[in-house]
Amino acid sequence: MSLAELWSRGLALAVDTVRVNSVALEVRQDVSLWHKQRRLGMYAVIAAGNVFLRLSRSHIRMFSSAKAWRDWELSTFALLHPSRAAEARGPRAVALEALPGERLDLLLTQGRLTTPMVEAAARELHRAHGLTTPNSSHPWSHGDAHLKNVLYDEAGQRAWLIDFETEHDTHLSADERHADDLLVFLLDLRGRATREQAVSLTAAFLHAYSESGVFRALQARLRPPRGLERVLWKSRSHQLPEAQLLEWLEHLRHELTRLEASSHRPLAT
Ligand SMILES: Nc1ncnc2c1ncn2[C@@H]1O[C@H](COP(=O)(O)OP(=O)(O)O)[C@@H](O)[C@H]1O
Ligand SMILES: [Mg+2]
Repeated sequence: MSLAELWSRGLALAVDTVRVNSVALEVRQDVSLWHKQRRLGMYAVIAAGNVFLRLSRSHIRMFSSAKAWRDWELSTFALLHPSRAAEARGPRAVALEALPGERLDLLLTQGRLTTPMVEAAARELHRAHGLTTPNSSHPWSHGDAHLKNVLYDEAGQRAWLIDFETEHDTHLSADERHADDLLVFLLDLRGRATREQAVSLTAAFLHAYSESGVFRALQARLRPPRGLERVLWKSRSHQLPEAQLLEWLEHLRHELTRLEASSHRPLAT
């Protein structure tokens, strides 16, 4: 491995593993709250991370200002979950109501992730993508919609999105931003699951999301990544071997083409 490759792998790992915020559950009688706080001294880490995110064409960036992150986390939480409590705790922390459900990554690890759960995740992403970002006229997007940031609530038979720490580049179209959310989810799913599981869960996920403009943007994004983009995608798919990553991208392209064709097929009479 060349020095440059080693450096970029290390940076990708750091972006994935360094936690810029600390999180703790505050259990109260009436409601439980997740207390999330920007760690001190994170400015340089975020600046370096943002250089990598830009060079790897990630389409996202982290908020370097703690207050800007706090306001984004709070306004997004209120937009997506209007009936749930969310409040500022000083300039660099928030308290967010604990939402019901379990993380999709844990459900998958325990062998409990099912088709209805990923369909619920797709429906929730679709609903959220239809909302308007506060103080703007743009459709909202997540920026880091991997399995750890989606909860599935069995009792309510629905999914919930959490963790609003990144924003998409503002020059992207809404379809490109929404396609990026789907890509992040599907790379993570493939990296964590067997190919067989990933194939059937992805078919259900895309079918439940169904949005032709977003699917076209995703098709356009699914070419083999190069340079630092490859490092990022490998990191997002949990270091899936190169050949399997390329095969997965090809599978996604076929799946999107198949869905597009079946949506135009005339109904049988
Ligand atoms: N509102 C919430 N409801 C339920 N669980 C939450 C909530 N906020 C955070 N968590 C839990 O805390 C973990 C970390 O929070 P998150 O906002 O994803 O920050 P990060 O991934 O950046 O550390 C989540 O994976 C989830 O388990
Ligand atoms: Mg998270």
